[in-house]
Amino acid sequence: MKLIKQNMYKRKKQMKTTSMLDKNIISLINEQIWLENNASFYYLYLSNQFAINGFSGISTFFKEQSNEEREHMLKLIDYLIDEDSTPQIPNYNFMEEMEEDFNILSHFENSLTNEKRVSSSIHDIVNNCKKIGDIQTENFMQWFVIEQREEETKFKNIIDELKIIGDDRGGLYQINKELGKLSDSEEEN
Ligand code: FEO
Repeated sequence: MKLIKQNMYKRKKQMKTTSMLDKNIISLINEQIWLENNASFYYLYLSNQFAINGFSGISTFFKEQSNEEREHMLKLIDYLIDEDSTPQIPNYNFMEEMEEDFNILSHFENSLTNEKRVSSSIHDIVNNCKKIGDIQTENFMQWFVIEQREEETKFKNIIDELKIIGDDRGGLYQINKELGKLSDSEEEN
């Protein structure tokens, strides 16, 4: 799976800043901005894949996921700006190199792998905050900790359902319908 270019994020020299935030924490948050951006483009790619393969409900689900990831990225950008630091805006996405055979179960399994990687990176930020006593950033990151837990559970549940369904067309029809509705109800909340 060519999911994420692991080494694309390079720690650039921090721009001159008057921020009270620790330099390492700023770098870690910038890496997180990079990961959220990658996740957003990956889900947009999947939304497109499902649309062209006739699964409009799942396509809507992934488009909504993509929007959520972009919101996460913006939340982190705003935090750095509020703290008088300079966020590094990702200037690259990997979509032009993206290539995965269309396989419903694999796409969801890859998404879960992606979410786990994002969770681990968030936990790393929290642990670093604890080490230096940055209670404010630790508090801010707690929202992401909870969000990631929900995301992982959501993907795990869908994967379990897909495993039960297997190749059954009726089951796939149903889950496509359900996931399209799930996105609608999440938007309303
Ligand atoms: Fe914002 Fe699902 O990572």
